[in-house]
Amino acid sequence: MLKHQEYTYEELDSNIANASLVDYLEPETTSKHLFAKADLLDKWGIYLNQTNQNLFRRVILGPCSHRTLVKDFNGLVRNMIMMGSNSYFELNNHPEVKLAALKAIEKYGAGSGSVPLLAGTLDIHQELEAKLAAFKSCESAMVFSSGFQSNYSIITGILRSNDYVINDMLNHASIVEGCKGAQAKFGTKVEFFAHNNMKNLRQKLEKAAHDCTGDKLIIVDGVFSMDGDIAPLPEILTLAKEYNAKVMIDEAHATGVLGKNGRGTPEHFGVEGEIDLVAGTLSKGLGVVGGFVAGKREVIQYLRFYGPGYVFSTSMTPGDAGALIKALEILEKDANLRAQLWRNINYMQKELTNLGFNINGSETAIIPVIIGDDTLTRLMTYELHKMDIFVNPVTYPAVSRKRSRLRLSLMATHTMEDLDQTLSALELLGKKYGVI
Ligand SMILES: Cc1ncc(COP(=O)(O)O)c(C=O)c1O
Repeated sequence: MLKHQEYTYEELDSNIANASLVDYLEPETTSKHLFAKADLLDKWGIYLNQTNQNLFRRVILGPCSHRTLVKDFNGLVRNMIMMGSNSYFELNNHPEVKLAALKAIEKYGAGSGSVPLLAGTLDIHQELEAKLAAFKSCESAMVFSSGFQSNYSIITGILRSNDYVINDMLNHASIVEGCKGAQAKFGTKVEFFAHNNMKNLRQKLEKAAHDCTGDKLIIVDGVFSMDGDIAPLPEILTLAKEYNAKVMIDEAHATGVLGKNGRGTPEHFGVEGEIDLVAGTLSKGLGVVGGFVAGKREVIQYLRFYGPGYVFSTSMTPGDAGALIKALEILEKDANLRAQLWRNINYMQKELTNLGFNINGSETAIIPVIIGDDTLTRLMTYELHKMDIFVNPVTYPAVSRKRSRLRLSLMATHTMEDLDQTLSALELLGKKYGVI
């Protein structure tokens, strides 16, 4: 039986400063009460509050923008530099996108009223799917209400008992959950290879070539969500051809960001149209909400009947679909937005490195600033908060303790003043705590 916690309950109680979320997943307690673990976690929450380390669920009071109104822990309202959003182009807040959402709500109402296979497919869902298929250079596409839902549904919808799925070990949790779902439902074999390590991927494919009686699917994030580095897609495609495997990529953080026209990782590497399943979320570069997958027409059609998050869940709201059609149009025609984002990315990566921070090989708008200690990461986040800078701390178990970090997410709309203020604050704290 898998034990999830690092400490026994007694150890945990006296060692709460070193506890992490993983310890409360299945804590060792004498109580069989279903909610006993919630009581234990509550204690940890109180401890984090008392020591100014609780930065979860800060409350946002206005549109997520490069400067955003945030309610402080004491009820104060702060106008903060937002370095924690994935709305890379601030399309969530674009006047034309908001208007498109309002118009769609006016025409179709606030909700679609049914799952897509029954009465929940609207013409604007179809319009959005056609636009996404063209944008991703695929025959067909389908949309879901979230990126988590799409990854889970694609993987459990297509993999079966004799198949092998081979993941980069830093793939997003929604992919890993999907793989666990396929494993539990059908007995699909799940493997992981060392991050971006093609030698190790080859070894896994070699093993699969001997053991697997079904098909092999390699899954990678196009851009990795905690490090902002890029999957070596051409090499992955070469290995896939050699071993007769199929490839799925998650373009959550690449859509809009990578490629001359923002079409993502395949455009960046010049391999558009060569990926079997192109998935992603509509909540980051496009700034709204939802997930998608694009691929061959008959594969997408199959997933409409066997992807559980599509079959058993009400379709995306009309307002979201309307907003997304407009957001996609803007992203395609306004090359300036991408140029602004890349100006900011290049500037921040260079300046942070010059200051002596380790940014862990970031290549995109996600920039990890490695701190290497969970408590210090949370304390620095709190100090930045007091300086009106909103960053997200990423600690164990999301990353190893030695790699705990401040995760900066850049937006096209950040001004040079926003960037310089953030750099000055990081420099001050980095020196104060001996990080640089
Ligand atoms: C790489 C990646 N895939 C999928 C998702 C899930 O997308 P959504 O938030 O739309 O559910 C996320 C983050 O949210 C992500 O970072």
